[in-house]
Amino acid sequence: MLNIVLFGPPGSGKGTQSEKVIEKYGLVHISTGDLLRDEVAAQTDLGLQAKEIMDKGELVSDKIVIGMIRKKLDEHQGGPGFIFDGFPRTVNQARELRKALTDYDERVGVMISLEVSREELVKRLLKRGKETGRTDDNLETINNRIDVYDRQTIPVTYYYDKMHKHAAVEGTGSVDKIFERIVEVISKVKP
Ligand code: AP5
Repeated sequence: MLNIVLFGPPGSGKGTQSEKVIEKYGLVHISTGDLLRDEVAAQTDLGLQAKEIMDKGELVSDKIVIGMIRKKLDEHQGGPGFIFDGFPRTVNQARELRKALTDYDERVGVMISLEVSREELVKRLLKRGKETGRTDDNLETINNRIDVYDRQTIPVTYYYDKMHKHAAVEGTGSVDKIFERIVEVISKVKP
């Protein structure tokens, strides 16, 4: 199995690049942001709780997110592997992912972090907000999401650094060029 963590700040292109990785490698996509937005759209209790937190740009509790991940891992065993998009976002989530994969005798092959400047992130997200109406793409929430990323999520890179699994990739330029850089990193992952 090939298990990839696609990591990076809000607007760095995780969703965009995930689509291309899935097309090439046939991996199962697990985006905690998408799973949470599905819950919000379905107006479940979990969705109602999550909406308020997401609209502020804060992180939903580890317990909720890890529960969703474990469910997805159970549903898709025996496939070619997973691409985790927007997860893990805290060191505790990274540890829990390790435990969950170990239960299946699996592991993360590589954690790829997309590097994009704050100015570019804000520009992309404001544009996406106008085009799609995504409610957390307003200036106040965007700035908070980036601050939360710097404070709570960046430490996840040190966690994977220690395991020699962190690969930083320049996340600006054309979508295809960035994808080429990602493919190069994936080609070096040991099975
Ligand atoms: P989530 O949905 O994960 O949001 P995010 O990390 O903020 O990421 P985005 O989806 O905004 O951006 P992206 O990196 O996927 O970029 P995209 O490809 O869309 O999470 C939302 C919220 O859910 C969180 O704030 C939190 O509350 C909660 N949550 C989610 N996961 C959680 C977790 N694990 N724990 C706790 N809470 C959690 O690209 C952005 C835009 O840029 C697009 O319009 C795209 O077309 C454009 N673009 C992409 N590539 C390029 C390029 N190369 N050049 C120019 N434009 C580009």
